Amino acid sequence: TAILLEDYRPSDYQIDKVDLAFSLDAQETLVTSILSMRRAEGVAEGAPLVLHGDELELVSIAINDTALSEDGYELSADGISINKLPANDVFTLKIVTRINPTANKKLMGLYRTSGNFCTQCEAEGFRRITYYLDRPDILSVFTVRIEGDSKTVPLLLSNGNCTDKGALENGRHFAVWHDPHPKPAYLFALFAGDLGVLKDRFKTRSGRDVTLEIYVEHGKEPRAAYAMDSLIRSMKWDEEVYGCEYDLDIFMIVAVSDFNMGAMENKGLNVFNDKYVLADPETATDQDYANIEAIIAHEYFHNWTGNRITCRDWFQLCLKEGLTVYRDHSFSADMRSAPVKRIAEVRGLRAHQFPEDAGPLAHPVRPRRYSEINNFYTSTVYEKGSEVVGMFKTIVGEEGYKRALDLYFERHDGDAATIEDFIKCFEDATGADLKQFSLWYDQAGTPNLAIETNYDEAHKRFTVNIAQSLKSSVVTGDVEPMHIPVRFGLVGPQGNDLAYSGVTGADVTGDVIHVREPKHSIHFEGVEQEPVISLLRGFSAPVTIIPERADSELAFLARHDNDEFARWEALSSLAMRQLRQATHDVESGKAVKSSPELTTILYEILSDETLEPAYRALCLSLPSEADIAREIGSDINPDAIYTARSQILDDIAKECLATLQATYAKLNPAKPFVPDATSAGIRSLRNTILGLIVRATGDVELAAKHFSNADNMTDRADALSVLALQAPDAEETALALETFRAGYADNPIVMDKWFAIQAMIPGGGALERVEQLSKSDSFSWENPNRVRALIGSFSVGNPTGFNRADGVGYRFLCDATARLDDINPQVAARLITAMRSWRNLEKKRSDFALEALKSLLSKEKLSRDVRDILERTLA
Ligand code: ARG
Ligand code: ZN
Repeated sequence: TAILLEDYRPSDYQIDKVDLAFSLDAQETLVTSILSMRRAEGVAEGAPLVLHGDELELVSIAINDTALSEDGYELSADGISINKLPANDVFTLKIVTRINPTANKKLMGLYRTSGNFCTQCEAEGFRRITYYLDRPDILSVFTVRIEGDSKTVPLLLSNGNCTDKGALENGRHFAVWHDPHPKPAYLFALFAGDLGVLKDRFKTRSGRDVTLEIYVEHGKEPRAAYAMDSLIRSMKWDEEVYGCEYDLDIFMIVAVSDFNMGAMENKGLNVFNDKYVLADPETATDQDYANIEAIIAHEYFHNWTGNRITCRDWFQLCLKEGLTVYRDHSFSADMRSAPVKRIAEVRGLRAHQFPEDAGPLAHPVRPRRYSEINNFYTSTVYEKGSEVVGMFKTIVGEEGYKRALDLYFERHDGDAATIEDFIKCFEDATGADLKQFSLWYDQAGTPNLAIETNYDEAHKRFTVNIAQSLKSSVVTGDVEPMHIPVRFGLVGPQGNDLAYSGVTGADVTGDVIHVREPKHSIHFEGVEQEPVISLLRGFSAPVTIIPERADSELAFLARHDNDEFARWEALSSLAMRQLRQATHDVESGKAVKSSPELTTILYEILSDETLEPAYRALCLSLPSEADIAREIGSDINPDAIYTARSQILDDIAKECLATLQATYAKLNPAKPFVPDATSAGIRSLRNTILGLIVRATGDVELAAKHFSNADNMTDRADALSVLALQAPDAEETALALETFRAGYADNPIVMDKWFAIQAMIPGGGALERVEQLSKSDSFSWENPNRVRALIGSFSVGNPTGFNRADGVGYRFLCDATARLDDINPQVAARLITAMRSWRNLEKKRSDFALEALKSLLSKEKLSRDVRDILERTLA
């Protein structure tokens, strides 16, 4: 049942116009769809018309107003095949289906959330509403009439502009929405219910007056203010930076609390997971604010990169997602600190995408086959896809990038496009040859660069040997060398970048080495002093690097590189080397000691007030347990990693205690609370320091005070984490957890934090705690946010608890997945990806993991979603 890229062919039929009518009812909603069909040119008369459908009840079907007889069509589990078609190439197809939104727990198609009606159609949810050509290359103009109860669903929303509305008999009313922009069905949306609204306006560059509306639960309107502010800034930024203007008179966002993903870019009517809309200082952390800003921007930016130009087929998903992620990253970098943002992106990429690329679920940025497309909304498609767009820019330059994007918008507006179309715009606009570069879309796996350097004092020549390699668990056959843009600098003894008079062995443009061959020997001539090379500045390519370099070189770069990212990177590499060694020492029963060099550099960064607080906080955090596990790569023992890392951190905290305490006392976040990046950075540094002080002193009281003095959620949640993760058994911790619960019991978004923090308490007792919490009244298997908060945080964010040596954590996750699969397969499939790296565990654990995975696979009635992940995970 695999779908292959090479099998793509255009549809035999087009749909010029869609008229949808919904008669809303909680259990029996009637959907009437009138499709203006057109047989494509060159397609034989009578070619069967196959429409997608999923869990639909067909009420009636007619062509040109004549009901089809039963032998005129054939129903199957996947849709309907119509084989009696008129001779004329244009005809009208009228289909009535009945659906049950209340029973729809998959949250795909039309479903109910908090009593309201809501849709999610990407990727293939529209077929759960009516029979349709549910593929992204079928673009059509939609007119939607919604009818429902005036009392329970006063609000009737869909895409485009509202063209009519009014009262009906029996206490019902209706609204008609028309969207003039042809669109694929996955961008269709309907919302009907009872919500409050926050309104504003935006005037576009060319003078269009746009009404902005954000719908949230009654009483929560003030908590949508930051989302509205983010939206307005996004609209302005997209005009200024990309020349993209909004194209309707109204833009709406609806926030719902049951949602499979983060948000959805439906034309003119974005639907959001409410945790990415609602914020105020009392309930949202700085990270929540940053996420809201980024996701509001992301969905808004899709209006051009996704909606105006959509994807030909789902293999091209990265065309819209990689580009839109790149755009939202650039937006956040402009709104906040660019280097801090870049470091956070790279940490995210390494935490999620690198393991995916190194494991059994690896796939190219543009996959060539899938059996369930929902399983390909991955960090490879999104985050690595974004890195690829960033590399385009590095290769063709700012100006070239701008010309290429202008050409893309001009050439493909209104198209369902492909990656080839996108690449061609870069080639045509800049003259660059991007054939080799385009391999980034096709070859899975993270390339590795092996580096050696040598300085010839007599000839003032600096040589860099670079060898690229790619190994991937899923790539079979030949691997071709890639075009890897490596941003670099030759850092001299005083910390400044050294000049050179000539270079041979590779193309070097500006500060970028273009690695294209399997091996390069690059000679820089006329280098007056021996440099330390800084490589991959700004993380110019998503690769790993094995720098055969001394700790002293890393320490030098950590202090002197003029690229802030590279400085952080050098420090992380230095720390990583120690953490690996320490893990090794723990495993062989030796004492762990942190090196004075690392401690000294951290001390310098801690005390350097010329550095941004947020940057200092990132440096002080050190690589995570998961980072270390990934770096070790095989035979992983999460307990040893935990012990090693804790000891190193304890040592550092003790060494720096006086300065930590002084800095903690001195840092004063702005009052009242402002969510901007600078204030957030101060909180982040202060709270990171709190964790270190408590490590060094065991002063739980201090964390408890930090908790009770907090006037915002960032400080409160961070203090609660310190208490729970570092002193799980302390009385203060129990008290704080209970205070938190009592204070926020009626706020699900905040309660998710309460679940998540407890799920991450390390050690052998975690599983029982999580099991207990999963049985509490406030837990629900039907709410994706709650499931992710508890089960997701446990399996992804608690390495020692989840990977308990007796394997019970794996069994628990597999059981949870089985249970959830009967309700919501898409979220269940996502949950079980936590086990993708099972082969890297030490023998005992990997045996238990394998057993648990196999027994899940043998379950009856497994969804296609979970089956697909399991089969690939075990392959
Ligand atoms: N296009 C959405 C976004 O990137 C994601 C929606 C994915 N939904 C799904 N069911 N696979 O913001
Ligand atoms: Zn997106």
